[in-house]
Amino acid sequence: MRAFVHWIRAAAPYVHAFRGKTFVIAFGGEVVADDSFLGVVHDLNLLHSLGIRLIVAHGCRPQVEAILAAQNIDSRYANGVRITDNDAMDCVLEAAGQVRARIEALLSLGLANSPMAGARNRVSSGNYLTAKPMGIVDGIDMQLSGEVRRIDTEAIQQRLDDGDIVLISPTGYSPTGEIFNLTVEEVATQCAVRMDATKLIFLTDADGVRNARRQLLSDLSTTDAEKLLARADRLPPDIRVYLPAAIRACNNGVARAHIISRHHDGALLLELFTRDGVGTMIAATALAHIRAATIDDVGGILSIIGPLEEQGVLVRRSRERLESEIERFVVAEYDNHIIGCAALYAFPQERIGELAALAVHPDFRREGYGEALMNEIEQRARRLKLTQLFVLTTKTAHWFLERGFRTGSIADLPQQKQALYNYQRKSQVYVKNL
Ligand code: ARG
Repeated sequence: MRAFVHWIRAAAPYVHAFRGKTFVIAFGGEVVADDSFLGVVHDLNLLHSLGIRLIVAHGCRPQVEAILAAQNIDSRYANGVRITDNDAMDCVLEAAGQVRARIEALLSLGLANSPMAGARNRVSSGNYLTAKPMGIVDGIDMQLSGEVRRIDTEAIQQRLDDGDIVLISPTGYSPTGEIFNLTVEEVATQCAVRMDATKLIFLTDADGVRNARRQLLSDLSTTDAEKLLARADRLPPDIRVYLPAAIRACNNGVARAHIISRHHDGALLLELFTRDGVGTMIAATALAHIRAATIDDVGGILSIIGPLEEQGVLVRRSRERLESEIERFVVAEYDNHIIGCAALYAFPQERIGELAALAVHPDFRREGYGEALMNEIEQRARRLKLTQLFVLTTKTAHWFLERGFRTGSIADLPQQKQALYNYQRKSQVYVKNL
């Protein structure tokens, strides 16, 4: 019971943040063929009901393979892309039609006692994609395999404005009436970029991107992702396909791309409505950064230092005092949440400064934020031409000693501070030369 209440409260900020935003959710035909697909559809339905503008892009490779096999047609691939001749194209159209109808049917379910009860989803698909031939790649004529040339973004916007879910199949048409076979990753990426989507989400066989030590990477910058791709031979096939697409999207304005497991029931919801997610989130800018505080950060700072004031680790500051001194603060931000802070009180005459109110949220300790905040304060101090930094602490002496501070005494403090020194707190003085 408590867990439920906690969970739904924790999800609320994401519900607010996502309402009215455009997400592109993409998956291969294997996701549709799987028994678990109904679960995915329920989750799509839930996202739609929360006011997220959904563009769903699907592939149909296994379905194409099955039809080709049934008709004894051979089909070849070059660099992971099918070389589509006329026969193969017929199979692609048949497969894409089947898959699309299946998705539409499931999105139309309205069974009582199911997550779809009361839902009335309208799914739109149409001639939104204009395609061009891939042409000759590495000396191979790709025939009817194509690329996206143009997207009728206005038409898609209108459908989304009407409250429809837009379903995009991996086929595109040319102005001369030809049909081209496209890849789901390219279609999804182009849609995300050109529709100004905030998210592009791939459901894949892998549960996310792993590093050389096989650790799942929860967050990945595009720069680090590119480094991983330089050793693509070590990556599973799905990641080799979807990671470059995710990078391209992020480098072209999509805020975040996510790679999550298609085998984990509810992965979409966990990824979207929890802070840490379950898969890998790729973004062009690092999630965490240190910056000067503004008046809007007062609440966030109080929530970080409040508990430490209670415990007597930090000196109590009123909201009013914090507001008037806000420009002395720097904050560490993670995904738009304040997770740490520190302040610099300068005594310019004595060319000395106090590093104060250094605090990091318990969930983010030992990740280097404290150090980053301290470095930022040191830089500020140097800019103010201070030569020394001191800190008063009752609890965390070793932390400062390990970072270049040495034990000082009250005599090291500026005059004004000596007069205010609180003998009852029995703080230790630590100083560092800059
Ligand atoms: N729920 C948030 C979002 O969708 C954060 C997800 C974090 N995911 C991760 N793999 N680190 O933006």
